[in-house]
Amino acid sequence: MSFEGHWPGGEERDDAAMMSLSEMAVDVLTTADGREKTAKSHAHAAAWFAARAAGETIPLGEASPPLRPARPARPELLDPREVPKRKPGSPAGRIALLHAVAHIELNAVDLHWDIIARFTDVPFPPGFYDDWVKAADEESKHFNLICDCLESLDSFYGALPAHAGMWRAAEDTVDDLMGRLAVVPMVLEARGLDVTPGMIEIFRRAGVDNAVAALETIYAEEVGHVAYGSKWFHFLCGRHDLDPKEVFHDLVQTYFHGALKPPFNEEKRAEAGLPPDFYWPLADERGAR
Ligand SMILES: [Fe+2]
Ligand SMILES: [Fe+2]
Repeated sequence: MSFEGHWPGGEERDDAAMMSLSEMAVDVLTTADGREKTAKSHAHAAAWFAARAAGETIPLGEASPPLRPARPARPELLDPREVPKRKPGSPAGRIALLHAVAHIELNAVDLHWDIIARFTDVPFPPGFYDDWVKAADEESKHFNLICDCLESLDSFYGALPAHAGMWRAAEDTVDDLMGRLAVVPMVLEARGLDVTPGMIEIFRRAGVDNAVAALETIYAEEVGHVAYGSKWFHFLCGRHDLDPKEVFHDLVQTYFHGALKPPFNEEKRAEAGLPPDFYWPLADERGAR
């Protein structure tokens, strides 16, 4: 059986569901508004899993994802050095922190759909798509939860400037799937596991209950995203008879432009299939430079 985009059952779907999975991905990537983008992401994920539950698999197909996803006119995207820093202990600081998280979540929605549409030439079992569609759907929920928190604090996504460099990892790894897996889920999303408990504490101390609940959902579900990254990275290493740890170190040094910052959340990283000898040597070497 071939897994290269031709699975049985796809021809029986009705017209409304005739998009291939990579067309669904491009539909999300080319939608600018955050609430609209995430609504499409959720609807496409539901279609994918409904088909899977019915014993069918929507064809992967082929589509051309844009180099950069469509984004709303606001927030204004600034160089990270120009994004004003606010103290997290103040109400304005807490809004800025939630705004930054919303921006990360929106980027994450696009990153997970992009990995689906970008690398259709690499054959995978359907479970690869199950994982990234589920991750994209969860990021969509995270974005909306955080937007709801911003709105309950009389703000909104777009009210503040945001980090312009968030898509850089995707552009840098546009031709390198293993590099994408190493940098996006296994470095950037793993970093989220390190910093989220501290954020939860900030909102718990301030008594912002909806933000605590939203961040706890994010914290629980992000372990899965890192785990998907590690799983499929190891799958590709096995396919090509490569040493996962060595390849991971090479790829992170090639594509990641910053230090891996301790302290690491070793417990959650382990739960996600990231052993210490993957990340500690990189942190030590970079610290010595
Ligand atoms: Fe997320
Ligand atoms: Fe994630």
